[in-house]
Amino acid sequence: MALIKKFRIKKFKDQNALLKLDKISMFYNKRQILNSLDLIINKQEILGMLGPNGVGKSTIFHIITGLKNPSFGKVLINGIDCTNIPIYERATKFRIGYVPQHGGFIQDLTLHQNLYLVGEIHIKEKEIRNMKIQKIISQFEFDPLLGIKAKYLSGGQKKKLVIAMALINDPSILLLDEPFAALDILTIKMLQEIIVNLQSIDKITVVVCDHQARDLLSCVDRAIVLSNGKIIASGSPDEIIKDASARSAYFGDEFKIN
Ligand SMILES: Nc1ncnc2c1ncn2[C@@H]1O[C@H](COP(=O)(O)OP(=O)(O)O)[C@@H](O)[C@H]1O
Ligand SMILES: [Mg+2]
Repeated sequence: MALIKKFRIKKFKDQNALLKLDKISMFYNKRQILNSLDLIINKQEILGMLGPNGVGKSTIFHIITGLKNPSFGKVLINGIDCTNIPIYERATKFRIGYVPQHGGFIQDLTLHQNLYLVGEIHIKEKEIRNMKIQKIISQFEFDPLLGIKAKYLSGGQKKKLVIAMALINDPSILLLDEPFAALDILTIKMLQEIIVNLQSIDKITVVVCDHQARDLLSCVDRAIVLSNGKIIASGSPDEIIKDASARSAYFGDEFKIN
């Protein structure tokens, strides 16, 4: 397992866009949540999205996956406009993996059955499907948990299961919505290692959001801060915590790492 650095320092000098949000605006009824938001996510980057509760982080994930349509603006993946492509087609064609904040698995199926369910949807060839599921079982050390119903798994085990389910389709981009919420420190460290390994070993682009900065900043290459429907700061973890706008709108004056 890769070690978590205090700050990840990988730089993306040559911008190599995998995903682009182009002037995305979002209204719920008449209330504006996102205001002409532009964002580029580079291939194999781990991007952190920070911002207070209710700022629109989950809405951004829903717009990327197609669960919601933006009021204005476009979603481009590999330069292709996929704003009007429906959820399933978008997930399959552009290999988008999504781990929602809550749920994402079937409570009354065992861990193994949950993996199979997704495997059967995505991989037609039985042998290839079995090999993929077996690879994921060993990667996540699931052997002792296979027969346990998902509802009886611990919070961390449930989160690992949903990440594993998202990996069956070999995503090129994985979206993680507040993966560290309500977990203990050791489980958070384990998930941070999984995230870093997904980037370095599996070459997956990862976008992770949280309303708390500390756990997120120790495993991302770059972070953005959202406020009032806009990105108000973007940079490496140590750049972003020094950013004056980010401090005044989100971190506060007292914020320090360690
Ligand atoms: N379906 C909806 N209808 C109306 N308002 C919504 C809906 N979904 C989210 N919102 C509102 O949009 C804002 C952003 O929500 P969300 O993206 O869930 O924020 P975050 O994930 O950053 O906490 C919140 O104020 C929320 O109440
Ligand atoms: Mg949310």
